[in-house]
Amino acid sequence: MAITMARTNILKLENIWFAYEKGKYVLKDISLSILKGDKIGIVGPNGSGKTTLIKHLNGLLSPEKGRIFYNGYEVKKRRELTRHVGLVFQNPEDQVFFPIVEEDIAFGPRNQGLKEEEVFTRVKEAMEYLKITHLAKRSFFSLSFGEKKKVSIAGVLAMRPEIMVLDEPTLGFDPWSKKEFLEIIDEVSKRSAIVITTHDLEVLDHVNRIIMIMDGQIKEEFVDKKEFMTKVFEHGLNEK
Ligand SMILES: Nc1ncnc2c1ncn2[C@@H]1O[C@H](COP(=O)(O)OP(=O)(O)OP(=O)(O)O)[C@@H](O)[C@H]1O
Ligand SMILES: [Mg+2]
Repeated sequence: MAITMARTNILKLENIWFAYEKGKYVLKDISLSILKGDKIGIVGPNGSGKTTLIKHLNGLLSPEKGRIFYNGYEVKKRRELTRHVGLVFQNPEDQVFFPIVEEDIAFGPRNQGLKEEEVFTRVKEAMEYLKITHLAKRSFFSLSFGEKKKVSIAGVLAMRPEIMVLDEPTLGFDPWSKKEFLEIIDEVSKRSAIVITTHDLEVLDHVNRIIMIMDGQIKEEFVDKKEFMTKVFEHGLNEK
């Protein structure tokens, strides 16, 4: 008989509703648990609410209705989530804190109140992971798009968040960088839960749950890419 161990629930969203404009709900009754060891892929059409949803995970947005629990305790102030959940934005330019690359990467860990020595170690390690050590002294604004993307990922990596959330991380990556990135994600997932929104089917080979959002609702969850591809591409969305 197989013994299944219950995995710890890190973050739980319970019946979340959110609207940017009054009455126009972009998220409708979303419930989602992120467990220790999870690697979740969030998929869905443009405008379905993926980015809006993940901005709730680190407290950038707070729900109009519904509750969020972190380690079993209800989150009262959304800022409580910031130190535990790291979010890598879709557009790296939305996430720049300092013009010089190494300073920018240091911003997050410094903000966590870590000692300078530890900040230095974290920044060095994150740059090595992303193979961007040679960019350390460069101006962020002079970098190529893919390089900027790597800097923004390094900045969140250096914080070693309990949950790492990435919004379309492979957008703009060359095939070699993408392969390296996916290896990094596999490595990082040993210590952090991962949530990735993506339109990139290759990324789905690296997750253990695929959550499909349609029109602000969780339409379905799949255990792997094979199940997702079979149901969505062979049978269409309305047939099960
Ligand atoms: N700041 C905002 N104000 C008003 N409406 C917004 C705002 N941001 C997003 N929306 C709307 O909310 C809906 C969901 O947007 P969201 O960015 O979450 O979609 P998405 O699934 O991430 O799409 P994509 O695949 O294009 O990244 C869209 O209709 C979008 O136009
Ligand atoms: Mg988006």
